[in-house]
Amino acid sequence: MPIRPPNFQPPFNVVRVAYVDCHVSEPALSKTFWVDALGLVVTEEMGDALYLRGLEERNHHSIVLRKGPDPDVTAIGFKVFSEEDLDRAASYCASKGLPHRFVERPFQGRTLAFDDPLGTPIELFYKMTTVPSMLRSYGAYRGAHIQRIDHVNCFSPDVQASYDFFTELGFRTTEYAAADDTDQLWSVWLHRKGNVHDIAFTSGRGPRFHHVGVWVSSVGDIIHTCDVLSTTGWLASMERGPGRHGLSNAFFLYLRDPDGHRVELFTSDYLTVDPDHEPTRWNLRDPQRQTLWGMPAPRSWFEEGARFPGRVVREPVLDAQPIVAPW
Ligand SMILES: [Fe+2]
Repeated sequence: MPIRPPNFQPPFNVVRVAYVDCHVSEPALSKTFWVDALGLVVTEEMGDALYLRGLEERNHHSIVLRKGPDPDVTAIGFKVFSEEDLDRAASYCASKGLPHRFVERPFQGRTLAFDDPLGTPIELFYKMTTVPSMLRSYGAYRGAHIQRIDHVNCFSPDVQASYDFFTELGFRTTEYAAADDTDQLWSVWLHRKGNVHDIAFTSGRGPRFHHVGVWVSSVGDIIHTCDVLSTTGWLASMERGPGRHGLSNAFFLYLRDPDGHRVELFTSDYLTVDPDHEPTRWNLRDPQRQTLWGMPAPRSWFEEGARFPGRVVREPVLDAQPIVAPW
């Protein structure tokens, strides 16, 4: 039974994905990409760390770039509904035998760190320092006019296991891809906040991080970004797109930052809050699943991702050969 019914009584309440914490080799160079070219806002520069946010965001940070020895992703952060949910989450981790601990994170209240059963590093928090939204500060808009973090996408060596875990935590299924004529989950999109996803999993060597999706207001913002990047020295950063996904219906552009971290400019998906919202199934061989207009994604998009520090990467349980899309 690969697709599970929604769990409306989860052990603790997650509101949404809220931040990604990455290591980069040279924060000053990263700043030229994420801030000068893409238009994220610098909330704080602290030593070798950059705390960035989108224009509309009132929380202190949604992208954290810290100088580190390897270009890995150290944590995916989720906001929970209350302080009590952090204690409920700790009890849940204990009941499942998942190692967990409360950690100190700048500009955040109590933060619970744990790994999901596949080794994906997760952090949960309720309180974060708030800052003014710059939604109406149009004079400060630059680059892609990024408004907020939208989602993360991860490689999982066992998508069914990742799916089972996050579904138990109350994440709801919006779309999924399965090998033709089977119910084997190859990729799945899960949400808490009411659009297509907060987190997605794709079969592959993992656990690894595939990309962070950031929300922009319009297709025009993405087209404009293509013009900006291609004329300001960032042509090689454009990995895939622009285009429209079949799955999620979103308009997209995938970019690689100077360390290879992948970011997706994302807009035009849809509302999923109804409790009886039925998931959409895609056959893996349907080329319109990835790009509605039929163009294949590059090989790098399927194979390359960032490591989570210290986590053992395993080969996927599903055989990739019969189900990869044409390049
Ligand atoms: Fe995405």
